[in-house]
Amino acid sequence: MAETQDSLSLIAGQVRACEQCKLHATRKKAVPGDGPENAKIMFIGEGPGFHENEQGKPFVGAAGKFLDELLASIGMKRANVFITNVIKCRPPQNRDPELDELKACDGYLQRQIALINPKVIVTLGRYSMEKFFPGARISSIHGQARTIGGRLVVALFHPAAALHQPQYRALIEQDFKKLPELIAKVEAAQSAVSTPPDDEPEQLSLF
Ligand code: URA
Repeated sequence: MAETQDSLSLIAGQVRACEQCKLHATRKKAVPGDGPENAKIMFIGEGPGFHENEQGKPFVGAAGKFLDELLASIGMKRANVFITNVIKCRPPQNRDPELDELKACDGYLQRQIALINPKVIVTLGRYSMEKFFPGARISSIHGQARTIGGRLVVALFHPAAALHQPQYRALIEQDFKKLPELIAKVEAAQSAVSTPPDDEPEQLSLF
């Protein structure tokens, strides 16, 4: 039997029908994520809040408006980036995601990453940071790019933190400004690898 080819729309359909954890019982709309399959940059937040649960789209509330401003500040449009969350359904009263919920949703996120194959992943907040930098502290590593599994990953503060605690606003704004250069560096490094000089092997060094 031929294998079904995975796609973002297949994943989205499965997320919308998902009953793999208890959050399906209280959600209004699951929120698979939004953006093109050829996005160079993927933002991963925590989980849907009130407005996302109403609309089935990620980052459409106050934190989402700020994320749009941050994207605009570096000349990026939401339509060109992929935005999703570690959990795809809203926890009741916006409580923190629980371990069984994070585990149940992980396969969807991994499939989205594999399909999109973004040049840069940006984690927003501690739950998505934890996936890539287990045990790290956001105050120590925010804004620093690390190569993980052959891909560049940058941990940023969650935009909602900047809304509630103004001291984080400047930090997230500064960290965002680094993203275009990081993408350019990855692209330059990748094109150098695809056209190596005749006589020496190419060393891929980003930092
Ligand atoms: N906060 C998140 O982490 N994700 C959303 O989609 C909205 C708010």
